[in-house]
Amino acid sequence: MSFESSQSIRPWAKAMKNSILKGSMPPWHADEPSSAHLARVRALDPKDKATLLSWLEKGAPADQPFNLKPPASPTTWQLGKPDVILKIPAAQIPASGTLQYTFLVSKLNLTADQWISAAEWKIDQRQVVHHINSFVRPPGSSYVKQAPLDQLYVATREERAARRTDEREIDRRELLLGYEPGYVPQTWGEGRAKLIRAGSDMVFEIHYTANGKSAVDSSELGLYFAKTKPIERVLTISPADSNLAIPPGEPNYQSHVTATMLDDAKLVSLQPHMHLRGKAYRIDLDQTTVLNVPSYDFNWQTTYFLKQPIPLKKGAVLSCTAWFDNSPNNRFNPDPTKTITWGDQSWEEMNVGFMEIAIPATRDPDIVKLSGTTRPAGGR
Ligand code: HEM
Repeated sequence: MSFESSQSIRPWAKAMKNSILKGSMPPWHADEPSSAHLARVRALDPKDKATLLSWLEKGAPADQPFNLKPPASPTTWQLGKPDVILKIPAAQIPASGTLQYTFLVSKLNLTADQWISAAEWKIDQRQVVHHINSFVRPPGSSYVKQAPLDQLYVATREERAARRTDEREIDRRELLLGYEPGYVPQTWGEGRAKLIRAGSDMVFEIHYTANGKSAVDSSELGLYFAKTKPIERVLTISPADSNLAIPPGEPNYQSHVTATMLDDAKLVSLQPHMHLRGKAYRIDLDQTTVLNVPSYDFNWQTTYFLKQPIPLKKGAVLSCTAWFDNSPNNRFNPDPTKTITWGDQSWEEMNVGFMEIAIPATRDPDIVKLSGTTRPAGGR
């Protein structure tokens, strides 16, 4: 559909009105109170909403005809020319079938520690790229240790889960940046950066998904080096509930995970993650709600950035509560008759609360205790 001119809008007036009233458009799933402290909010403000609805109700009359040019699709890097571009080798995606996670381990050849002020995905075939996570794998890490270098590789669940018993998560792998539908390129903010230690590799965890037509995907990740030493180091924490067991037909299954701060930090961004049975999600800081997503939509995996990072005091607890609807009333539910557990595929489930926190750049990064079960293999 085209929203470019007064004429092209008219046939869509009713659908537009309905989607606005239903709250499905514009696609923004955080409620009003939490949106007040979030950046890049896509919701309509109440005044604009009223103006638009009253015009649509009249059938979108063209009293003042207009013609707009659609914005060009981004073909270049949104954050400027990266310092390094990591290319994922061309992957053949079949037209049908269930695809397991593919891995790529790329040598970075960094001889000194490198601060990264931003990273950006350039996704080639978005219809078949379900998600990609890029992890920094520090030297000596046990993470997918047996994977060959610089070639696409399907690792088994056992290979992915293998780890040394005494290994700290931060010494095993650190999430640099994820891509999923709804992704918008952005930096971590002035004075903030992620650290890639000398000798680290980049591990790409890629989920291609068959979409009815075979495709060849060649996606890329651009890295931007920090020009000056950052004041704060950004880390991604991701408490996850791998013990999910959602009964058949259950309309309101609840799962809960926490992250406890062992030292002061700041909260920078939040990204609730569930699959097709995801119904609602809430992240609380101690007793206060930071993010409330009352109608979760699997198709919009939004990263919610705070306008101003929120201070997290030593001992503060971030709680992530997920609700799932495994009943036939959930129109996205692929099968309401099964007990659903944790799994990679969209017809299995996840509860992961991805959150980015910032700490003073020189501090030991191992400052969070995640509740519940051990972090399951795999990212999203
Ligand atoms: C007031 C603003 C907007 C209105 C009135 C509007 C209206 C609509 C309508 C009528 C549809 C068709 C829904 C259907 O199938 O019944 C639609 C679909 C869609 N819109 Fe919007 N839209 C708005 C803003 C946006 C924005 C800001 C984005 C992207 C950031 C977006 C992305 C999409 C996408 C991807 C679809 C197709 C997939 C889907 O249904 O989720 N829209 N929109």
